[in-house]
Amino acid sequence: MRAVVQYGTGGPEVLKVEDRPKPERGDGEVLIRVEAIAVPFYETQLRSGLLGAAGEPAIFGHEAAGTIVEADDPALTGRRVVTMSFTGGAYAEFVVASQFTLVPGTVSAEQAVAAAVPASVALALMDAADVKAGETVLVEAASGAIGGYLARLAGRKGARVITTAGKGKADIDHNDPDWRKHVPEGLDVVFESIGGPRAAEIAVKLAPRGRILAYGLLSGEFPVFSVADLAPRGLTLIGFGGMDAYAKDVAAARDEALDLVADGTLTPVIDRIYPLADAAAAHAHVESREGVGKVLLVP
Ligand SMILES: NC(=O)c1ccc[n+]([C@@H]2O[C@H](COP(=O)([O-])OP(=O)(O)OC[C@H]3O[C@@H](n4cnc5c(N)ncnc54)[C@H](OP(=O)(O)O)[C@@H]3O)[C@@H](O)[C@H]2O)c1
Repeated sequence: MRAVVQYGTGGPEVLKVEDRPKPERGDGEVLIRVEAIAVPFYETQLRSGLLGAAGEPAIFGHEAAGTIVEADDPALTGRRVVTMSFTGGAYAEFVVASQFTLVPGTVSAEQAVAAAVPASVALALMDAADVKAGETVLVEAASGAIGGYLARLAGRKGARVITTAGKGKADIDHNDPDWRKHVPEGLDVVFESIGGPRAAEIAVKLAPRGRILAYGLLSGEFPVFSVADLAPRGLTLIGFGGMDAYAKDVAAARDEALDLVADGTLTPVIDRIYPLADAAAAHAHVESREGVGKVLLVP
């Protein structure tokens, strides 16, 4: 089968298209013929080495949707599913998975992979933040997948939503290093995904007892908050992540995320779809930060 293999860390050129043996499924696993693959921003950080060194050359990619072609349970054969693997293997024509989510019949593989992870993260974040009608919510990087879903979910809750993104894509241009100065005061909730040494500057914009959900590091660095930033306003800071913490809530929200796509509540925003063989070009496009929404690969 055709697959995209990562050779060390570096630019998009470390991703090479190769012929690799079709993976063999073990007991309890299913074999999926892949129909759509997500290219989230964190994968560009994994590829570049920003999040650590790469191991031996291996098939890259983490999020794929497709059709089950082999399973212990024959009733599963032919079912469309979406899967997320922390160990890679998604940039390929076939992938094996022990955990997967069934995709509702009306949802395409492209829509499924564009929503399954980011919309379930957004649902779990909304839950953790306990956003209420009438509250004011700041969504950072709303041009991205999670941010885009958060903005829509918070709006549906009846919150007033303020967004940041690259110039012309949102209320506030987060490429201005002083962008936090332009945020109005009185925020009840901040969905913090940019991180970096200046992230704590947002604290002065929160209302008393406001909540900050720190869930990303798009800048490449975690945000740094001190008690001195939080205590004067009685703010709550939630570090949203961890395999034994919020990752479980995210996985539990996957069915709901796909149901919201099926019933039209959340329509995935898809920026561009590339052939699998153009994975390097897809990475370069994600890093260019020109688009809005999800970048996908199709085998
Ligand atoms: N905690 C969790 O459970 C969890 C799970 C999944 C992902 N995440 C994290 O959530 C974050 C968002 O993921 P996503 O999948 O929504 O991303 P995505 O769809 O790939 O979107 C990328 C977004 O990143 C923004 N961006 C890129 N570099 C930036 C920078 N230096 N400063 C500010 N914005 C920047 C882009 O904005 P513009 O191009 O408009 O500037 C765009 O909105 C990532 O950090 C990811 O690692 C967390």
